[in-house]
Formats: sequence, structure tokens, C-alpha cells
Amino acid sequence: SKPLTIAIAGLGTVGVGVIRLLETNRDLIAARAGRAITVTAVSARDRSKDRGVDIAPFAWEDDMTALAGRGDVDVVVELVGGADGPALALSRAALDAGKGLVTANKAMVAHHGLALAEAAETARAPLKFEAAVAGGIPVVKGLREGTSANALTRVYGILNGTCNYILSQMEASGADFDEVLAEAQALGYAEADPTFDIEGIDAAHKLAILAAIGFGARIDFDAVDIVGITGVRAADIAQADTLGFVIRLIAEADIADGHLLQRVRPCLVAKGHPLAPVDGPTNAVVAEGNFSGRLLFQGAGAGDGPTASAVVADLIDIARAQGGPGEFGAPFAMPAAQLQPFTPADP
Ligand code: NDP
Ligand code: HSE
Repeated sequence: SKPLTIAIAGLGTVGVGVIRLLETNRDLIAARAGRAITVTAVSARDRSKDRGVDIAPFAWEDDMTALAGRGDVDVVVELVGGADGPALALSRAALDAGKGLVTANKAMVAHHGLALAEAAETARAPLKFEAAVAGGIPVVKGLREGTSANALTRVYGILNGTCNYILSQMEASGADFDEVLAEAQALGYAEADPTFDIEGIDAAHKLAILAAIGFGARIDFDAVDIVGITGVRAADIAQADTLGFVIRLIAEADIADGHLLQRVRPCLVAKGHPLAPVDGPTNAVVAEGNFSGRLLFQGAGAGDGPTASAVVADLIDIARAQGGPGEFGAPFAMPAAQLQPFTPADP
């Protein structure tokens, strides 16, 4: 059947990751989606930049908003970043044109998610943003679909890979804050403006999205109480260690007296707590439901591969919803000889 055609705006860490993933896993994606997923057009700032992937086969648009008007594009994938500016203009244009929109842009979703959702509903176009929260962890889907029968009492966790990388590296090696931040930037974890990471704003964007989904509330970024990690010193980490704690940037939402409370701040986490061993760019989200009990979602929260994984999962969902193979299609079509014996992972 007809391929799902996509345009990618933004060819940085995540955009290039998506192109690589679509190429590497082309056959299994086509099998699971019920059809191929094909890039037809791309846009970024600098056409001549070497990105380590071949973009010559794709049409190029200097004005990224033009991607939304192309007849050969079913879904626009927005991987530019920024709450407003070109990312928002493109996203609105895509939905207004009836195209699907997949985005990893938590800043935009936290600030304009409601307006975008309304535009998507009006146009009856899919809007998906799994990659916007916790990178490769399918926690948007997990909360929206997996816990939908529950009243949630609390959602909390580690939602910023850069801060977690900084804190856990400082803890492991006594490394200097600025030095470790530079490493996180080089590894592609940090935002274009890393202030968003270290001041807790990025974690707050993600918390606002999770809280809206988990508690069925109107998204309200301005209501998040935010403290970042810039005040955490090596001496605080050492002191916490002697007392049996680690320091983690914790994002937390719960209900008190009928009000949704949302906060992000560095916390002392007891070494026996499941969040204490979460290190590097790993994220973890705990959701407490009145019937499910405590659920823990954990995995890579930043970086090209994990984030691309979430973006492409959204694309597969769209392709499937529009005529894919159904629940028990491709994953069970593999020959038994390919099944491997189970071996436990790390202890
Ligand atoms: P990068 O900074 O690596 O890439 C951004 C891309 O957007 C670049 O290709 C850049 O073009 C292009 N771009 C930026 N501004 C403009 C503009 N004004 N006009 C045209 N093009 C522009 O960002 P990431 O790939 O890291 O992040 C992309 C999105 O994904 C962001 O919303 C981010 O928050 C989100 N995200 C990132 C994760 C990560 O681990 N990196 C994880 C989860 C979400 P050029 O290359 O030509 O300069
Ligand atoms: N800058 C973000 C982080 C990227 O470090 O978690 C993933 O959203």
C-alpha cells in the first residue's frame, strides 16, 4: 500500500537520528506499520552543513513552513525546538493543512499544547509527542493508555537527562559542574540553550505534559514551581553521600485539597530508593495509580537514538491507524528460528 510520507524540520541530533533509524530498521518498520515510511522533504537552517547522513534524495525547503503545504507530505515531523518561532508556525501550518504532526518539542507542547490539540481536533489530524517527555521511554503512551483506568495519586521522577548526567558524574568522580555540562552538550543531551536544562525548565515542561495526561488536567506550565541544579555544589553531594543520600532533580505532580501541585527541585533521595541508582542521561518516572499500584518507567531520557525511537514509534502509530496490520500483525510473523533464548540483563 501507499507509503506514509513525512517531512522532517530540524536536522540536528534528533532529526539525523530519525533519518538513521528509518534507514536502519526500514524493513521491520514497514512490516509493523503495514507500509513504508518515507522521507520526502527536509528543512533546517544551513543546507550545506555536513550532517553525516545523505539528505540529497530529499527535497529541501529553505522556508520550513512550506513543508506543511507540500502535496507529497502526509506527516510533518518537527524537530527544531523552541516554544514559539518557526517550530510553532510550522506546527500550526501543518495541522491547519490537515497533516499529521509529530514533535519532540516539549517547550512548544507545554506552552501551546492545548491550542495545537484543538487545531488537530478541528482538522481531524493526528498530533503526537511521545519523544517530548523522557526520550525513549514510552511514558506518554504508558500514562495515557496504560493507566487510564486509574485515579493517579502521584507522578514523579527524573525527567532531565542533562541534569542527571551532571549530578551523577559529579557524584562518581567529583567532576566540576561546568566541565560535565560541556560533556552533556557534546553528547547531544542538552537543549540548544542549556539554561533550560540546568534551571529545571526543561523538566518542568515535561512535568506539565505528564501531569496534564496523568491527571486529565488542562496543561499549565506556569503553575510549576521550579528550582534547578545550579545551586548544587560538590560539597552538597559529598555531604549527602555521607548521610546515605544522592541528589537528584525530581519533578513531581500530585493532588492536594483538590488542587494539582507541580514542582521541580533538587532532592535528597535515599540510596535504597528506586530513583537513587538512576544515573547518566537515564530518566525514570513513577506513577502511582489507585488500582495499578506503583509503576516505574525507566530508560534513556536523551540522545539521538532513544529520542528517534519515540519519534518513529509515533509515526508507526499514525501509519497503522490509517490502515496498518492490527494488533497481532508483524511482530508475530517472524519465523520461530529467529527467536532467541532469554538471558537476564544486568543484575
Ligand atoms: P539540535 O539543536 O541538535 O537541532 C536543531 C535543528 O533545528 C538543527 O538542524 C537546526 O538547523 C534547526 N533549526 C534551529 N533553529 C532553526 C531556525 N530558526 N530555522 C531553521 N532551522 C532551525 O536540537 P535537537 O535535535 O537536540 O532537538 C530537537 C528537538 O527535540 C527540540 O525540541 C528538543 O527539545 C527535542 N528533544 C531533544 C532531545 C535530545 O536528546 N537532543 C531529546 C528529546 C527531545 P541547522 O542544523 O542547520 O543549524
Ligand atoms: N535536554 C533534554 C534532557 C533532552 O537533557 O533531558 C531530552 O528531552
